[in-house]
Order: sequence, then C-alpha cells, then structure tokens
Amino acid sequence: MRDFIIIGHKASTSSDFSLNDLPGSAGRMDILCRCINSAFFLSHDIRNDVQVHLLLLGEPEPGKIIRFNGENIKHLNPDERSSAALIKKALEKDAGESEIQSTPGVWIRQGSLETLINEFYNQGKTLAYLREGGDDIRTTAGSLNDAVFFLGDHIGVTEKEEEMIINAGAKLISVSPYSIHADHCILILNNELDRTLEK
Ligand SMILES: C[S@@+](CC[C@H](N)C(=O)[O-])C[C@H]1O[C@@H](n2cnc3c(N)ncnc32)[C@H](O)[C@@H]1O
Repeated sequence: MRDFIIIGHKASTSSDFSLNDLPGSAGRMDILCRCINSAFFLSHDIRNDVQVHLLLLGEPEPGKIIRFNGENIKHLNPDERSSAALIKKALEKDAGESEIQSTPGVWIRQGSLETLINEFYNQGKTLAYLREGGDDIRTTAGSLNDAVFFLGDHIGVTEKEEEMIINAGAKLISVSPYSIHADHCILILNNELDRTLEK
C-alpha cells in the first residue's frame, strides 16, 4: 500500500463550506482535492493500492483526518467537486478518536500529525518526506513502493511539523529541481514508483 499524507493547514473542519468556493470558503480544500485526483486516478481506473490521509487543521475543530482507500472507494470522479463532496459528507459525521465510515472507502476521525506519525512508525512503514532539496526520487524510488509520503499544502510544512517528521526517521525525497504543487509531486511520485514495479 502506498500512503500519502497531505497537511491542509487552513482546510475546513466543518461541512459548512460551498462546493462552488473551495479555495475561499473551505480553506484551500481545492489543493487537497487535486491531491486526491493525482493519487488515485488512472485513465478509466482507480489505483487500489493507494491510500490518502487528509489532515485538516482549519477552523472550527482543527485536527481531523479523512482517509480515502483506493480498494473500497466509490462515488469518486476526477473533478474537484466530486472529492470535495465526499469530504463534505465525511465532515457531516460527528468525528471522535475512532474512525467512522462516511461513504464507501472514506473514513473520518479526530487526529493530528503526531497521531499519523506514531501509527505509521509503529507499523514499521518507511517514512518519506517530500521536500525540495531532498534525495532525488530517481535514485531512491526502488525502496519506496510501500512507503508513506508526507506533503505540505500552499503553506508548505511548518518547522515544528518538519522536526516531528524528520525525528521519526523520514527520508527526505525530492521529485523536481523546482518547488512545485503538492498534486504534481504525487503524480511524479506515482509515475517514478510505477516504473520500478514489474507489470
Ligand atoms: C506548493 S509546495 C510548498 C511551497 C513552499 N515549500 C512553501 O513553503 O511555500 C507544497 C508541497 O509540495 C512538496 N514539494 C514541492 N516541491 C517539491 C519538490 N521539488 N520535491 C519534493 N516535494 C516538493 C512539499 O511537500 C511542499 O510542502
């Protein structure tokens, strides 16, 4: 399983946002929706070996995790509104510390970056932090097929978050000589990892 964690620093933790204004009313939820698209979509197919964990840190209840699992996901189409509608449905649930399924393949709970780091660390997963200036994916992809990848949003990753991720032993990986959008990083990463697999 390939796992992606995207930190949405301003992303709404209430379902009270407009599908017509994802950047404004939903706190740059458009970025997270594009990440879902890049993580899951092939042409006429969905990657069933991928999970995305959206960490929503916006108001009014910062600290919610929405998990999308490619094996079970339903009602997901490639447009941003479709992903946003599933996020909205998840946020309508009364999330506690245990996951609740909101629609097929989508779960929500309360949680933080620390929650996710600890869980994956305890599972013995390889942790990889996508950052400008890290080791080139082209020399490291072979060892990362089942890794968990941490990415930031338009704000990036804060110093404190970065310290937590690095202290957990994450490898720093770069996918481009430029600073690029998180969804583009995921697309490049999926492609580089796919190329190391025998089809
Ligand atoms: C739009 S960038 C953030 C831009 C910039 N770091 C900042 O703080 O304003 C979003 C995320 O994409 C990832 N990213 C961007 N360029 C990258 C690169 N060349 N290699 C690996 N990851 C990258 C990082 O995880 C980053 O936090």
